[in-house]
Amino acid sequence: MSFDLKHLPRSFDDLVIADPLNASVIRSYCELPPAKPLLLAGPPGAGKTEAARVIAHSYLEHHNIQHMQWEFNAASLGKDYEAKIMSEVNYQMFGNPDKAMIVINEIDEMDLRTVQPKFREFMDAKRHLIRFVATTNHKSRIMGAVLSRFRMIDLDPPSNFDWVDRAKAILEAEGLTPARTDVEQMLQSFQGSARDLIDLLEETVIASKALAP
Ligand SMILES: Nc1ncnc2c1ncn2[C@@H]1O[C@H](COP(=O)(O)OP(=O)(O)OP(=O)(O)O)[C@@H](O)[C@H]1O
Ligand SMILES: [Mg+2]
Repeated sequence: MSFDLKHLPRSFDDLVIADPLNASVIRSYCELPPAKPLLLAGPPGAGKTEAARVIAHSYLEHHNIQHMQWEFNAASLGKDYEAKIMSEVNYQMFGNPDKAMIVINEIDEMDLRTVQPKFREFMDAKRHLIRFVATTNHKSRIMGAVLSRFRMIDLDPPSNFDWVDRAKAILEAEGLTPARTDVEQMLQSFQGSARDLIDLLEETVIASKALAP
């Protein structure tokens, strides 16, 4: 398995979240999700999709819900979103007394004039059946009435400092034994997104394995 996939966050503890308030909201959605749909907003690489996936995984696993495709991207859902989502919802509802879990990435890709007003209606009509978690880079492209149906949190990209523990854990999982100060030093001059950071960790692991006797 490739390095990036191997080190995807699997549980809440693997997520790096800069703001403790945001972290506590995400934790609550992982543990006992509030009824209100959740919208994770923020710039690319802030970890929105990974947080949404961890929330969905936790919920589906905890309730032992059978599922097929619970994650969608609004850009490819198109106008046909209702049929696609409901086929998954019906599947998840088999023997499940709670709601289905649906993740929609880039929800702003739903057309503001033609799709979003209907989607808002859809959310209301199916609220007894579906827990929504959505992500967006552009909350300004989402109509107010849709936004107001979500609990929204703005995820800022974590700082290098926020990444130290997680980076250390990844290096340790690869068999390295760095001191905390080594990891801090490695990250100090790093500039880039979380995606680049994972690449940096991989390079570090490759380099250290090449040096090993
Ligand atoms: N908070 C985080 N905790 C752990 N890993 C993260 C975090 N943020 C990003 N990553 C890593 O960076 C990658 C990109 O994160 P993710 O896809 O969640 O970003 P995003 O905010 O959804 O970005 P985009 O707006 O481009 O969709 C992930 O695959 C993961 O490896
Ligand atoms: Mg994303």
